[in-house]
Amino acid sequence: MKHENTATALLDWYDTHARVLPWRISPAERATGVTPDPYRVWMSEIMLQQTTVAAVKSYFERFTTLWPTVVNLADAEDERVMGEWAGLGYYARARNLLKCARMIRDDFNGIFPKTRVALQSLPGVGPYTSAAIASIAFDLPETVVDGNVERVVSRLFRVETPLPAAKPELTELAETLTPRNRPGDYAQAMMDLGATICTPKSPTCGICPLTSSCEARRIGDQARFPLKTAKKPKPTRHGHAYVGRTEAGEWVLEKRPEKGLLGGMMGWPGTEWQEAHPPAPPFPGNWQDLGEVRHTFTHFHLILRVHAASHVTNPPETCILKGNNAFKPSDLPTVMRKAFDLAQLSLET
Ligand code: ADE
Repeated sequence: MKHENTATALLDWYDTHARVLPWRISPAERATGVTPDPYRVWMSEIMLQQTTVAAVKSYFERFTTLWPTVVNLADAEDERVMGEWAGLGYYARARNLLKCARMIRDDFNGIFPKTRVALQSLPGVGPYTSAAIASIAFDLPETVVDGNVERVVSRLFRVETPLPAAKPELTELAETLTPRNRPGDYAQAMMDLGATICTPKSPTCGICPLTSSCEARRIGDQARFPLKTAKKPKPTRHGHAYVGRTEAGEWVLEKRPEKGLLGGMMGWPGTEWQEAHPPAPPFPGNWQDLGEVRHTFTHFHLILRVHAASHVTNPPETCILKGNNAFKPSDLPTVMRKAFDLAQLSLET
């Protein structure tokens, strides 16, 4: 299959069908010489890792309104940024976001480096993100390979190797398609094609700009791609969380260790998440067992038993007490928010 015209066909399609997204400049704007702000491109790409465009939009607007430049973000307090990130998940991204912003401020004069290699020296910026920033922000002919691109390429070339083993092969094939002309628009066009037409289950090949060069479409088995090696089922872990208030009505919270799951986020005191644990309240109180909440992380399902107490005593020094004015449920990561939502009813005063 010949692919000389594939990039051109995709770019022509993008000129009229590009999605309008808050971190983007339109192809028409780009054609007039406008370039996107690397800070906004970087922020969007970090947020979009493992997260949908729909979920990211409001977070992106809020972050860039609160912190319009990378130096503004670098100067922000950790707790503030972690609180604003709450609900987006994969909290290591937020810790790296801050680290990266501070490195740009301190080591790069507040200016994003302009090569893929230099970009990859930044915390949280790997092969995917460096290619995305280099192509989208600096219009360099780097090849972005995310799940969308893997799907598109596996169909165009009808790659029979299953993922994840197919990644190097798909990357090489994707690189053969990247044009020298308009690589930034091209990268986003691939993402849009994967998100809107070349979708996982029922691709709408009838309106695809690349049908004539798609091998899977020619054979008629496009929905079979990409092939995937069966995943191991996720194990289930159990834990207990303790949502307590002091006599004075303060919420008893805890900052989770920087390293590990939900690192650096606020949460409720509780047990480790392992197999079954007998409930053992971390400090005295009129604890009541309220039932369980469920949450799924990348590598396991969690069943968290929620206990609530309207009067606790002697919380350890490591706890953080917050009165109703200072406590923002929206600062909590989703699983801790679920525990709060369940406990709230029994603790309202
Ligand atoms: N997914 C990851 N990066 C994206 C982008 N820049 N536009 C749309 N979807 C994306």
